[in-house]
Amino acid sequence: MSHILAIDQGTTSSRAILFDANLRIKAIAQQEFPQHFPQSGWVEHDPSDLWSSVAATSREAIERAGIDAAEIAAIGITNQRETTLVWDRKTGEPVHRAIVWQDRRTAPLCERLRAEGHEPMVTQRTGLLLDPYFSGTKIAWILENVEGARARAEAGDLLFGTVDTYLIWKLTGGRVHATDATNAARTLIYNIRAGRWDEDICALLGIPMSMLPEVRDCAADFGTTRADLFGREIPIMGVAGDQQAATIGQACFRPGMMKSTYGTGCFALLNTGETPVLSQNRLLTTIAYQFDGKPTYALEGSIFIAGAVVQWLRDGLKIIRNAAETQPLAEQADPTQQVILVPAFVGLGAPYWNAECRGAIFGLTRNSGPAELARSALESVGYQTRDLMEAMRADWPGMEDQGGVLRVDGGMTASDWAMQFLSDIIGAPVDRPEVLETTAMGAAWLAGSRAGIYPDAEGFAKAWALQRRFEPAMEASERTARYERWKRAVAATMSV
Ligand code: G3P
Repeated sequence: MSHILAIDQGTTSSRAILFDANLRIKAIAQQEFPQHFPQSGWVEHDPSDLWSSVAATSREAIERAGIDAAEIAAIGITNQRETTLVWDRKTGEPVHRAIVWQDRRTAPLCERLRAEGHEPMVTQRTGLLLDPYFSGTKIAWILENVEGARARAEAGDLLFGTVDTYLIWKLTGGRVHATDATNAARTLIYNIRAGRWDEDICALLGIPMSMLPEVRDCAADFGTTRADLFGREIPIMGVAGDQQAATIGQACFRPGMMKSTYGTGCFALLNTGETPVLSQNRLLTTIAYQFDGKPTYALEGSIFIAGAVVQWLRDGLKIIRNAAETQPLAEQADPTQQVILVPAFVGLGAPYWNAECRGAIFGLTRNSGPAELARSALESVGYQTRDLMEAMRADWPGMEDQGGVLRVDGGMTASDWAMQFLSDIIGAPVDRPEVLETTAMGAAWLAGSRAGIYPDAEGFAKAWALQRRFEPAMEASERTARYERWKRAVAATMSV
């Protein structure tokens, strides 16, 4: 019983990663699944795709590792956050496809609630903004728009869950309806201060509280899997939303420690300790993790387009064939040109939260070409991260307590050039760890520490290994001048 299975159910694929007794990866399985876009701005997942890809990759990872299910001590789950499912308590049948976090269909409802003056109360209690990103208005939409759903929910026949909850329900054969505090903290109906579902906000959104799962710690007992799934019952002992799992995997356990994950978008979390810090700069306040009933809070900044800008170079502009070509191309760029790309392809996230503006390129000359665009694309990720750092510093001076070091992970961090520019423009060290699978590792550690096979937080933090530190090398005057140019470019983009 010396292995841990980590399930990472993400926005575009499901992955299962098998870790051994030393938290080393033994096998990985991954499966993409279809995305559904029924209308502009709508994004849905078929719950059966989420489940079947999780079940298949879990079995595949176990098989690839060449071990018996009896050697797995526990399962850890991490997941795309906010994505909303509602299903029948008795039959397990979902009443609608999962509404994905990126889905904007509830913008009018958010707008109405804002106009009615509810945002300050909601932000104070949940740490979030009235934005369609979060689950609450998505549940309200389902109850409002699926025939008969409201009556069934009021009769106690329907259950709500984020993806973790749905997977726990499926894995345990409907025996457990639970979530963890980090996923609950993304729903817009969870009071992160009081540590319970918020009756007033549920009433405001018309959500019966009988639909809601029980909220547990991140390392806790979430039941055991159906015996027929893997040949024996395996306990589920760790659960965290993916960005929080990455924060844990990066061992950001002390206030002032922060991490930034570069996937399609970028999510930066700063550990602020035991007291929630309410942002004055449009960041989110969230729960980083919860152990022994005690939440540790974080400030979070979300950027919608990070790695996606490289996909655009590949699929939109067709100036690279694969992501790895971006760095060599950027290195060829003319250093005298000052091309700035503001990748507001779907508007801008934190700290601007401007859903309407669209991308722009500034500073083009007749000599601007693929190399300058590739460089400006990589630089845009650095500038946007600096925006988040600025907001975090303004919100909470404790950010400097741990030397302002930023721990990074995710696909884009493979580029040394991008990481050097990031360090240059934020003016702080950027640490890239040995293990880049930090999200899965966080989930595995939660389950393994609960199961008693992995060290405690302190021991785990000691084992965190640095692969490379990037130190700022840019002159302070150049850093300031460049960042000011970026700010002007963003302001111009938002004013068009
Ligand atoms: O908040 C959304 C985030 O959890 C999604 O992460 O990695 O599935 O794109 P990812």
